[in-house]
Parts: sequence; structure tokens; C-alpha cells
Amino acid sequence: MASSDAATKLGLKDPTLFKTQALIGGKWLGAKDEATIKVFNPATDEELGTVPDLGLSETQEAVEAAAAAFKTWSRTTAKERHDILKNFYALMQEHSEDLARIITLENGKPLAEAKGENAYSSSFIEWFAEEAVRTYGEHIPSPFPHIRNITIKQPVGVVSILTPWNFPSAMITRKLGAALAAGCTTVIKPASETPFSALALAELATRAQVPPGVINVVTTHQHVSDVGRELCENKEVRKVTFTGSTPVAKMLVSIEAGGNAPFIVFDDADIDAAVEGAIACKFRGTGQTCVCANRIYVQAGAFDEFASKLADKVSQFKLGNGLDGKTTHGPLIHSKAVDKVKRHVDDAIQRGAQILIGGEAVAPSSTTPSSNFFAPTVLADVPADALINTEETFGPVAALTKFNTEEEVVKLANDTDVGLAGYFYSRDVGRVWRVAEALEVGMVGTNTGLISQAVIPFGGVKESGLGREGAHGIDEYMNTKYIAFGGL
Ligand code: SIN
Repeated sequence: MASSDAATKLGLKDPTLFKTQALIGGKWLGAKDEATIKVFNPATDEELGTVPDLGLSETQEAVEAAAAAFKTWSRTTAKERHDILKNFYALMQEHSEDLARIITLENGKPLAEAKGENAYSSSFIEWFAEEAVRTYGEHIPSPFPHIRNITIKQPVGVVSILTPWNFPSAMITRKLGAALAAGCTTVIKPASETPFSALALAELATRAQVPPGVINVVTTHQHVSDVGRELCENKEVRKVTFTGSTPVAKMLVSIEAGGNAPFIVFDDADIDAAVEGAIACKFRGTGQTCVCANRIYVQAGAFDEFASKLADKVSQFKLGNGLDGKTTHGPLIHSKAVDKVKRHVDDAIQRGAQILIGGEAVAPSSTTPSSNFFAPTVLADVPADALINTEETFGPVAALTKFNTEEEVVKLANDTDVGLAGYFYSRDVGRVWRVAEALEVGMVGTNTGLISQAVIPFGGVKESGLGREGAHGIDEYMNTKYIAFGGL
């Protein structure tokens, strides 16, 4: 199907946002060997379209294009970059319906959530537009009378951006906004499951006057390991930024990786608020975010009330195609994800957990046509050593484990190699401080299940990552240069 026919079929107001070619040096291109990747709607298993399956040589060309563009982009003024990023932000607002529709079609999340992602995604571009003009250096008083010490900030160079399918847009702009604001040029490798959002963003950036070669998009599937290695090892690449799984992250730098977040409910919590927080935190993106609660620890005195209220709320979810206005939760990204969730649920049950609701993959039906749906699930009495408590599940399963004391639960929460986010509910101000300080994570939500914003330092500790994105994130894309002015 020609790209314009496909775009019309997908119901976009501006069909030219549906790009089916990669972008290198300002040119939209196919693979040299004409290989393509088929992209499917996970809610229906229908093919949405194809994108090029690029290999090593096209990736090298993309890096070369970024290196050439760096010579001029790095010399633009911060105000020029600010203005271009503001244009880009305005275009993302103007085309928000189409951008959200593309997210829903390729990722499966409900349209309302996809609109939320576009708002979140564009907020990074807006935030970094405003950061561009505030990349100050400093004057450091010297101990020597004839010297003045100055520092300036300079862009690091070409940045490789590798992003996941769970936020097809926001995980790109969180990195791209910072890189462009700093004066860096980029090569983006989006997930092969969700390339159309990346390509639509590149199209809007072009319309916003981002010059050719500043943003390059390399779509790939078959050659992903060659392309990934090149994007990390090419001598022109000065920074690699990645959001995705911990095993892949261990090979890279500046990373945001897996979470396995604890969510703790103490006896003194506002239980209704904790239930709302758990719904938002655990089931956002059908459980497929790195900051989703993975292990839910509930103190013995609150356990029964929390468990029954949570199961009741979950029973009201409507699974289905994200384009259907009644849908509250969409499919998982593919059948491998369904298999993993099933394995975790079965393991918990074998170890003695009880199913309060859900527990199974959903058979295809008229509202859930593909086999990528898993019933939203609440499990009670999940033992601490169950797989679901030791590995990130990335699915719609709330696994509840009972605990007795604050000391015990902090130990349980920290008993993992990762540490991205952690959440807890308590109305005791002393406990709020103690537990927030004790959790071994990069980000804590106290009495809230939603922490994500452009303006916060997003990132983890332990094996969850290196560096911070959002607030302070621009520094990761700039070198500090010290200049001594002597001979005074
Ligand atoms: C992620 O899942 O990697 C990011 C989630 C977020 O930014 O909220």
C-alpha cells in the first residue's frame, strides 16, 4: 500500500505525518537492499505499514550526516535553538490528535493515554527550549593574582538515541530536546515495533526548521545488533543515550533501564488514595512502563481493605482497541510480553498466591481481536521470592505481599539489583521522611503514584541507570571547558 493510502486509512488529519522512510541528512530514504520491516497494530494484529530495515552502511551515513551538521548546528546561538524548539513544540501541539493516534495505532495504549503521552512528550521540547538559553558557565576566583578562571559549556557532539516502544514519542523527546538545546546533533534508533511516532516527530522538527542532518532516524530490525554497535562505537558518536531493558543497558552509557518499583502501603495510609495511586502507577500503559509499581507491599492491618478495593476498581477496567473511546486499557505490545506475564502469574500461583481478579490471557473476541491482551490481574499473598517480585513483569498484574514492620518492608523493597522509582503511602510525616531517605531508588513518590514530569531529574540508581534526564539533563549533553586567562 502506498504511504499516502495507508495514512488515509489510519484516519490522520494530516496524512503527510505518516512517514514510511528513514531520514538521513535531510533526505527520506529506503534501505539500499530495499528490505522493510512490517509494523503491526497490537490491538488488532493488522499491518499498519512498513519502514526501511536499514543496516550498517546506512547507519554510518547517518552518523556522518550528523557529524557534518554538528559543524554548523553547534555554532547556532542558544536563542536560535530556543526559537526552533519552540516552533517544534507548537507543531506538536497543533498536530496532537494525529500524533496521539499514531501512538495508539502502533503501541496499543488508549487514545486518552496517548494524548497524555503527546502532552508529556512535547513538554520536554518546551522545557529544553527554555534550558537552551540558560546553559551558563561560571567565574571561579583564582588563588593566583594574574589569572582569571572561567568555564563555558559546549555541546558534546553527535548523540546516538536508542528508544523503547512503551513511550514511542516521549522517550525520544526527553533525549532529543536536551541534545538539540545543547547544540548536539542526533541519530535516533526507535524501537522497530513503534517507528512511526519517531518519523512523525522528525517530520515536524523539519517543518520547525531543524536543519538537515541535525536529526537522523535509522529504522532497523534484522540488523539491530550491528546498528546498535555502530551507534555506540562509531568514533564520531560522543554520547549514547538509551531507555530500555537492563541487559541491553549494561552495554551502553547514560541509560535509563528496568525498574521493578516497590509500592508500599502502610497501615496509617489513606487507603482510598493508595488504591487510586496503585491503579495509576501499576496499570499506566497496561503495566508497561519502567516506573510502574511491580511489587506492592501492604501492611497487615490494611491488607484486606486495600486488596478488596483494588480488585473492585480493576474489575471496572474495559480492555480493547485504544481507538475505542470506552477502552481504559489496551493490549500488551506482542505475544512474547503476554507469555512473560503468564509465566509470572503461574509461578506466583504455584507458590501459593491467590487470584483476586484476572490471572489469564484473554481469548480473541470482537473487542479484543488480537491475542496480545492479558486480563488486568490482582494477586494476594504473593511470596517475596516469587518471580513477579524479583523480575520486572511489564504487564497488568498487581502482586500484593503482606508485611508487618517498616524495617521489614524497607529491607524487602531494597532487596533488588535495580532502583529506578519507589512509592509509598503514609500519613505519618516522620515515616515519610525516613522511608523516602531509606529507599534505594533515584525517584520516590510519597502519597502519589504518578511522578513523571519534564521538569524533574528522571533516573535511577544501582542497575537502573546512569545520569539524569529532564531537570539537570542538559548537562549530560555538554562538556564543561575551563579557560584560564593569564598574563593579566
Ligand atoms: C519509562 O517507562 O521508561 C518512562 C516512564 C516515564 O517517563 O514516566
